[in-house]
Amino acid sequence: MSRLAVDGLSLRFGGLEALAGISLDIAEHALYAVIGPNGAGKTSFFNCLTGYYRPSAGTVSLDGRDITRMAVPDVAALGIRRTFQNVRVFPRLSAHENVLAGAHLRSSASLLGTLLGTPAMRRAERALADEAQRWLEYVGLADKSRVLAADLPYGMRKRLEVARALMGQPSVLLLDEPAAGVSSVEREELVAVIRRTWESGVTVVMIEHDVELVMQLATRVAVLQRGRLLVEGSPEDVRSDQRVVDAYLGRRRG
Ligand SMILES: Nc1ncnc2c1ncn2[C@@H]1O[C@H](COP(=O)(O)OP(=O)(O)O)[C@@H](O)[C@H]1O
Ligand SMILES: [Mg+2]
Repeated sequence: MSRLAVDGLSLRFGGLEALAGISLDIAEHALYAVIGPNGAGKTSFFNCLTGYYRPSAGTVSLDGRDITRMAVPDVAALGIRRTFQNVRVFPRLSAHENVLAGAHLRSSASLLGTLLGTPAMRRAERALADEAQRWLEYVGLADKSRVLAADLPYGMRKRLEVARALMGQPSVLLLDEPAAGVSSVEREELVAVIRRTWESGVTVVMIEHDVELVMQLATRVAVLQRGRLLVEGSPEDVRSDQRVVDAYLGRRRG
């Protein structure tokens, strides 16, 4: 069964068709890439998967369950977590507090309420704090725990956002242009984090402009163009598809 099944997904903004009948299946074991020119509808697609935008038609299912019209927190609680193209960390919170915030809406987090003020609650809080620190280490920010997010350089804020998403114990991690604007060294670190996360069993879907990075990492690629699904297939198939070369890759090379 598909982890994510998208069927006829459409989204209109007045006269603009941002998404026009997108149908695709994302397998549980996929490291799935969505590529396409600016304005193709990639971020809108993520926004429809996560409750930020309400599609005008079509359905999205997670593990066979219809999540199409669910609100943002409900989708997050079901295990779809994301990062944003324009990083959205809490600037006045420390790196550690930012990651801790990712535990909110986690299914086990509701337990804390019933344990209010008890030693068991303090143990649970301690465990969450330790886990947040481990996610910081995971993305290479172990020594930035107490630094305010606002004081971290851009590439680190992007990794912090990944750590926060992982704190949510996602079954699906959506990354919107994770490598955009980061240095080549950070890009390598990021590739390692993405690969390791995928290998641990998380379904990863990433929007990415860097075609080389996509070809290096992805098991499956979808190409969007003007809200439509142009091609979907293995990286090899997509790379050699003439429509893709014409519409996208060719222009970048040319
Ligand atoms: N909230 C919105 N209101 C109006 N138009 C939007 C909104 N969000 C996206 N769009 C439009 O939808 C199209 C697709 O945008 P987007 O999904 O951001 O593309 P991509 O991420 O592929 O660059 C663009 O024409 C964009 O201007
Ligand atoms: Mg975008």
